[in-house]
Amino acid sequence: MTHDPLCQVLDPQYGMYVWPCAVVLAQYLWTQREALKDKTVLELGAGVSLPGVVAARCGAKVILSDSARTPLCLENCRRSCAANGLHDVEVLGLTWGEVSPDLVLLPELDVILGSDVFYEPQDFEDVLVTVAFLLRKNPTARFWTTYQERSADWSIEALLHRWSLTCVDIQLEEFGADRSELAASTLPGNHSVQMMMVTLRTEDVGL
Ligand SMILES: C[S@@+](CC[C@H](N)C(=O)[O-])C[C@H]1O[C@@H](n2cnc3c(N)ncnc32)[C@H](O)[C@@H]1O
Repeated sequence: MTHDPLCQVLDPQYGMYVWPCAVVLAQYLWTQREALKDKTVLELGAGVSLPGVVAARCGAKVILSDSARTPLCLENCRRSCAANGLHDVEVLGLTWGEVSPDLVLLPELDVILGSDVFYEPQDFEDVLVTVAFLLRKNPTARFWTTYQERSADWSIEALLHRWSLTCVDIQLEEFGADRSELAASTLPGNHSVQMMMVTLRTEDVGL
């Protein structure tokens, strides 16, 4: 394995690279830096954890998570924190769709992050089950997520409805991310990254 200073690792696991979506979400977080101070933020499927690291550097209390089945990714989350001088960021194994003790015992959350977590259609519902569980426990929290539509039949609309969730699109031009280069990174390139904010549909869950 080869390591770089950002803790990307040449390894077949998806969580070992920074994906274009992560750069875009990190840019959004930077524009929200005042609001993020002292907020509690959980990142799902964090991988190299660029958005979570940026949130922590903005003064948020951050918990990073990745699949409980990929200890190498979890170790890489820890390395990213260490490389950025972040010593109080908790790293948890949270597998989408599983209600584990670590999930249930999370503190109150303000923001949930997910960068490129909608990439495998068979996992979409598991991601949203976890998000719905967390938003029911934290009804005012928001799920900020960036994604790439990689196939023509990409859609989570029916799943959002099934789990009493709703979303609004956040246009990349609203936060200066509609460019192929961001913060000196060429990663966004010509990938068509999009962003949305998911919340609980309160009228459906009686809140
Ligand atoms: C495409 S990568 C994105 C990584 C990172 N968020 C980024 O944008 O650079 C997808 C991430 O989801 C994680 N993942 C995949 N399946 C998962 C599951 N069932 N539960 C939790 N995390 C999962 C992977 O380990 C990986 O870190």
